[in-house]
Amino acid sequence: MNRPYTIIVSEVTIDGKLTLKRGVSSKEIMKFMDEEAIRYLHQLRAKVDGIMVGAETVRTDNPFLTVRYAEGNNPTRIVPTSRADIPLDANILQKHAPTIIVTTESAPEEKVKQLEEKVEVLKCGDNEVDLVRMMDELYKKGIKKLMVEGGATLNWKLIKLGLVDEIRLIHMPFIVGGKDTPTLVDGEGFQSLDEVVKAKLRAHFVRGSHLITEWEIKFDD
Ligand SMILES: NC(=O)c1ccc[n+]([C@@H]2O[C@H](COP(=O)([O-])OP(=O)(O)OC[C@H]3O[C@@H](n4cnc5c(N)ncnc54)[C@H](OP(=O)(O)O)[C@@H]3O)[C@@H](O)[C@H]2O)c1
Repeated sequence: MNRPYTIIVSEVTIDGKLTLKRGVSSKEIMKFMDEEAIRYLHQLRAKVDGIMVGAETVRTDNPFLTVRYAEGNNPTRIVPTSRADIPLDANILQKHAPTIIVTTESAPEEKVKQLEEKVEVLKCGDNEVDLVRMMDELYKKGIKKLMVEGGATLNWKLIKLGLVDEIRLIHMPFIVGGKDTPTLVDGEGFQSLDEVVKAKLRAHFVRGSHLITEWEIKFDD
C-alpha cells in the first residue's frame, strides 16, 4: 500500500487540550495565537498536497482550511465522515480550494448526491471510513504529502493504524483543564507500554510567544 507522508499539526495548550471544552470551536483558543505562529501554520499548509480534519471539527469549527497568511497554493481539503454528515453550508464546501469528502457505502444516498453537486465524494468502506484504503486512494490522486489538523478522534485512529510520520505542535501558553475536553489524541488509548507510539524530538523553536516542537514518529522500535 502507498500512502501520503502524513504530518499531524495542532495547537495544544500546556495541558495538551485542543479547545476550551467539548463542542466548543478551537477558533476560541486560536484568538490567543500570535501572527508568527499563524504564519508558521499557513506556511505548512502551503507546502502540502492535502489537508485533512475529522468531520466533527468541520461541524464544530467550520474551518476554511486555506492558505491565507503565507504565499502559496491551497491544498486539497479532505474530510472523512462515515455518514456524509457535513453541513451543506460548511466553509470547506466553498470553492476556495478543491475538497474531497470521504464516506462509506452506507451513507444516505440523498446526502451524498447533494455533496457531489459541490465537491468530490469518495467511498472507502462499508460502515466506517477505512482510513488505510482512504490513504491509498489519496496517494493515487496525487496527495503525496498530507497535513492533518485534528481533531482528537481522527488523530487517535491515524496514530493507532501507524499512518502518521510526524507531529508538529504549536504550544499555547495557557491551561484550560477539564477531563472531557478533547486532547491531542483521544480514543481508547494504548493499554501497555509495548503499544505506545514513540517519537523523537527533531526541532524546537519559538514563534512569538509559542514554543513549537516537531516530532518524528519512530517506527523501528
Ligand atoms: N487545536 C487544534 O489544533 C484543533 C484542531 C482540530 C480540531 N480541534 C478541536 O477538536 C474537537 C473535535 O475533535 P473530535 O475528536 O471530537 O472529532 P474529529 O476527530 O474532528 O472528528 C471525528 C469524526 O470524524 C469522522 N470519521 C469518519 N471516519 C472516521 C474514522 N475511520 N475514524 C475516526 N473518525 C472518523 C466521524 O464523524 P462521522 O460521524 O461524520 O463519521 C468522527 O466522529 C473540536 O472541539 C475542535 O475544536 C482542535
